Amino acid sequence: MAQLDDLRKQISLVESDLDEGLLGLTDQQTLETFRIEFLGRKGRIARLFKVLGELDADARAEAGRLLNALKDHANTAFDKCRDKLQIVTLEGRITKEKVDLTLPGVYRSLGHLHLLTQVQQEIESIFLRMGFDVATGPEIESEYYNFEALNIPEDHPAREEWDSFYIDGSHLLRPHTSPVQIRVMEQTDPPVRIICPGRCYRRDTQDATHSPVFHQVELLWVEEGLSLANLKYVIELFVREFFGEGYKMRLSGDFFPFTEPSVQVHMRSRGSSDWLELGGAGMVDPAVLTNVGYDPEKVTGFAFGFGVERMAMLRYGIDDIRTFLINDLRFIEQF
Ligand code: DAH
Repeated sequence: MAQLDDLRKQISLVESDLDEGLLGLTDQQTLETFRIEFLGRKGRIARLFKVLGELDADARAEAGRLLNALKDHANTAFDKCRDKLQIVTLEGRITKEKVDLTLPGVYRSLGHLHLLTQVQQEIESIFLRMGFDVATGPEIESEYYNFEALNIPEDHPAREEWDSFYIDGSHLLRPHTSPVQIRVMEQTDPPVRIICPGRCYRRDTQDATHSPVFHQVELLWVEEGLSLANLKYVIELFVREFFGEGYKMRLSGDFFPFTEPSVQVHMRSRGSSDWLELGGAGMVDPAVLTNVGYDPEKVTGFAFGFGVERMAMLRYGIDDIRTFLINDLRFIEQF
């Protein structure tokens, strides 16, 4: 019996040490150390269980009950303490990590379409509203579509105007979008009403107004009874839509093998005295219509090819064509 009394005392000592100790704990880590001290395999409670073997049968039953009760108590007490500490830690974090609504937000910049793409899309939408379709053609083009079909035979001196990058003996990077006219007319019976925006390549030395890569927008309208007056009207309408009222345009005589008569289109803002060339235009040469199987006695047509960079430069006051290609964010982000 003396042994059992002794065990009771030890049990109540362990229990009060445990209860008091738990009260003083403030973090999960010391809680775990403390738990091992009491409930670990060699902890204080496990050591008390060892006494069982030394007791006689009656006392052992009672001691076993007492020890199990102690173990249960310890387990529950630790669980409770762990829950309490978790809440305390969470509350601590919540008060510490307050959101300061007066701080400026984090700026995440979003990408956007390049100015040239925006301009191209705007041009497309203007002509779509006027009833034109958008056509495309390959950037690597054959000499036939690029020259011959456009009434520029092999030995024609005008070929030099389109100083080109050749891929092989008879294919080149297209120096203008005019070959798309031929491709479309070959596929469609008149009436034809298309525009074709796209990239062009020329062996030009770079400077403020020349770039070996640039964009054009080609227009072609073929139908019965079209005249130069219709061409002038369409260009004027477009110029007013794209540039607004503050601009003037002027047509002057020119020569292109694929148009007759041919004109040059110039623009200037009302405040300025400098005329800037937008591109060429004219009535489609009967030889070109014949090349695609149209009857020039029945239908006539007109066309133009304008520089897209030129239009953007004029509208936004950009004075160097190279700015479009160098990807300087200070430029790109302005539009
Ligand atoms: N293709 C010509 C060039 O790049 C521009 C041009 C002139 C296009 C007259 C046309 C046109 O459609 O009718 O210089």
